[in-house]
Amino acid sequence: MTDLPQTPSLFERLGGIFGIAHFLDILGDRLYENDTLNQNPAVLRLHNEKGRPGFKFTLMAWMIQETGGPKVYPGADMRTAHANMTVSDYEYDVVLIELAAVLTNCGVPQQEHKDLITLLEGFRDDIRAGSAASA
Ligand code: HEM
Repeated sequence: MTDLPQTPSLFERLGGIFGIAHFLDILGDRLYENDTLNQNPAVLRLHNEKGRPGFKFTLMAWMIQETGGPKVYPGADMRTAHANMTVSDYEYDVVLIELAAVLTNCGVPQQEHKDLITLLEGFRDDIRAGSAASA
């Protein structure tokens, strides 16, 4: 899928669970409060039906697993999870821009920053797969 170095894993290079939790806690809040993303009705539904703690937990578990950490993510794969909504390229960019801002703010080194953005870029097609071509 990607040609990221396997040893040590990105999970390890990001500081493991505690390193990832440090920046994801902040990212989760920024995404949850993002006025651009919150215009998407599917995102509003997520807020109303599932709430912030569950949103942050699933994102955290997903990232731990996808960066090469323990298999702790209990949710659906990205294509299935985003199948019944429209996610635009612009909205996807907004998530990556927020991530980049948080990574620099938290002092995550340049190589790990780059590798994480590359990893997430690899999920763009799956996450956008359920969207109309014009979205
Ligand atoms: C880097 C990009 C993204 C990642 C890593 C990501 C990750 C996730 C994860 C882990 C879940 C939980 C799935 C489950 O519990 O089964 C989820 C659900 C969701 N995501 Fe994303 N997501 C991304 C981008 C987006 C974008 C751009 C939007 C919309 C603007 C979006 C909207 C949603 C919604 C509405 C749900 C709730 C689905 C439901 O259970 O009803 N996501 N996402």
